[in-house]
Amino acid sequence: MAASSTDSIIELLERLLKILKEENVFNRSDDQPVVRFRHPQYLQKIMPLSLDDKPASNREIETVIRQTVQFSVKTSSPHFHNQLYAGVDEYGLIGSWLTDVLNTSQYTYEVAPVFTLIEREVIQKSLELVGYPSMPDADGIMCPGGSISNMYGMILARHKILPSIKKSGLFPLKSPLACFTSEDSHYSILKSANWLGFGIDQVYKVKTDEFGRMKVADLKRLIIKARNDGKQPFFVNATAGTTVLGAIDPLPEIAAVCRSESLWLHVDVSIIFLTNSLYFMTLYDWLRSDSMSWNLHKMLGAPLQCSLFLVKGKNTLYEVNCAQAKYLFQQDKFYDVSWDTGDKSVQCGRKVDAVKFWLMWKARGKIGLTRSVEQAMSCVEYFLKRIKETAGFRLVQPHYQCCNICFWYIPSTMRNENETPNWWERLYLVTVEIKKRLILEGTLMISYMPLPQKEIGNFFRMVVNCQPSPTKSSMDYVIDQIEKIATDL
Ligand SMILES: Cc1ncc(COP(=O)(O)O)c(C=O)c1O
Repeated sequence: MAASSTDSIIELLERLLKILKEENVFNRSDDQPVVRFRHPQYLQKIMPLSLDDKPASNREIETVIRQTVQFSVKTSSPHFHNQLYAGVDEYGLIGSWLTDVLNTSQYTYEVAPVFTLIEREVIQKSLELVGYPSMPDADGIMCPGGSISNMYGMILARHKILPSIKKSGLFPLKSPLACFTSEDSHYSILKSANWLGFGIDQVYKVKTDEFGRMKVADLKRLIIKARNDGKQPFFVNATAGTTVLGAIDPLPEIAAVCRSESLWLHVDVSIIFLTNSLYFMTLYDWLRSDSMSWNLHKMLGAPLQCSLFLVKGKNTLYEVNCAQAKYLFQQDKFYDVSWDTGDKSVQCGRKVDAVKFWLMWKARGKIGLTRSVEQAMSCVEYFLKRIKETAGFRLVQPHYQCCNICFWYIPSTMRNENETPNWWERLYLVTVEIKKRLILEGTLMISYMPLPQKEIGNFFRMVVNCQPSPTKSSMDYVIDQIEKIATDL
């Protein structure tokens, strides 16, 4: 008898699970490479990736699934420190699978009854956590990433100052709207200015200090400059945990400037987890902002994509974004349509990302989530100490501000030489070479980058995330591997 379609779906899923187990995907120990790097031409040659008229056989599908696993980066390896995200939280993963199997969209209560309640709970609890007012005096929405969350901040700021733009567009404006962000902030602010039609010329890049924090005096100078340039300042983006150095901008001072200049203050919190014991700043600091992005799919380990935008004010998200489509948001439905929250979003179909974070919080409690951040931060501290006391390693900055630690490795042959400009150029090349060797060996993934605004060439950026839970020995491993791979340099 032919298998019913129900049986065959279950059979396929069981098969997938078996392959994932056989390929050690759930194994978080360090007995497998973090990556088996192959160049694109090789993968194109060995993998049956072409899409054809005829259906592929089960065998071919199984082969390609296995190869996908084999040649993908194991972000849940303890040796993946390449990005500001890493392994996935197990409960987050279950939440993700649950939403995928139920495959629905977050826009109406009708198609997402439980998920609508879950998103509301996540927003409400997160508002409490950061000290914003409760709903309906503040609100939030799950977004596909920090970049889009930042874009929400910018559009809400625009709406506050000039609500008529929603209808008229930017054309009637005599003076362009100007926004301000630090030179160390994320590039999504530039992209937002482009997508929202302000233009990237309207983004004023504020200088940062030696630690990458926004210089408030320069912010004030640029606000005056923008006005002299005939522009209308409206939006300041501050960052709590910049992409490279992990810098935390001086929020209280920036907030004071925004208040006196009547500018919207958005805070981009892509990296840190906020706890009530407030790891990095006082509650008072957050309270002064108008909106914030909180990127749960970074340090905390919620599965990509999972990001939360929070904003003060009643109905603000709805006013800015609503298009009141009658074919979706009918007002004469039989239930309370205030639960149809989709028109608050710029998207129509929207994945129910809240479930991933909700299940993590539900299963671990705030206590558990806080502990995982504290464990990661204690490893950051330990790593910093090890770097300071180990010959050949040199910090870009003497202390950490978030979960990033930036450093160089100086091979023994270069240690007693004069540090001339040429010496530094060689060190930057050494950094690239070490990275290449590590990735080809598959032993460690750690990123490198320059910081052109500070005239600094390539250095390593170590990131310590919550998943899989880092340990002292996983920190030692990074140092050992770099020393080992660079012995002949
Ligand atoms: C400070 C900061 N903001 C925003 C983003 C963008 O987040 P996403 O990659 O989720 O769009 C990043 C990404 O690294 C970031 O570091």
